[in-house]
Amino acid sequence: MFKRVVLFTLVILSLTLLAACGGDEKKEEAPPPQQQEQPTAAPQAAAPAAIVGDAANGGKIFSTACVACHGPEGKGVQGLGKDLTTSEWVAQQTDEQLIEFIKKGRDAGDPLNTTGVAMPPKGGNPAMSDQEVADIVAFVRSIHQQP
Ligand code: HEC
Repeated sequence: MFKRVVLFTLVILSLTLLAACGGDEKKEEAPPPQQQEQPTAAPQAAAPAAIVGDAANGGKIFSTACVACHGPEGKGVQGLGKDLTTSEWVAQQTDEQLIEFIKKGRDAGDPLNTTGVAMPPKGGNPAMSDQEVADIVAFVRSIHQQP
């Protein structure tokens, strides 16, 4: 009788162990797909190094930082800033190139200067962030008229 109880207990124990192992296997299988998703998701999040501009915010900044020379609608002010809405030069630049241009400006003595008037870096607002410059570029794109 005692032997039977021991046997029975052993059988139950081994069944429990098997079940436990089976359960563990399932648990071990589950994580890898999650881990695989992370490496693919991470580069995607890191990949767009270019800043995405917010045209609405860019318009607000434009109306304080650029308006004096380029006018409220970007159509330019005689003798100060150029018309940005019809500028072919603007149309030819990539967003990255326009961001670089606005950050640098264009000196009056720059060979590319067409008016003899200087375009100040960031319109003369050195505290302007890269994000704000990108927002302005998005705004400039939104007011640019395609020929
Ligand atoms: C003090 C006046 C002044 C301010 C402020 C100013 N600009 Fe200009 N900007 C100019 C002048 C002058 C030029 C033309 C330079 C030239 O003759 O090539 C110019 C040219 C440009 C051009 C190139 C246009 C082309 O067809 O070559 C862009 C783009 C531009 N400005 C954007 C901006 C933005 C955006 C701001 C605000 C952050 C700004 N500017 C603020 C004076 C100004």
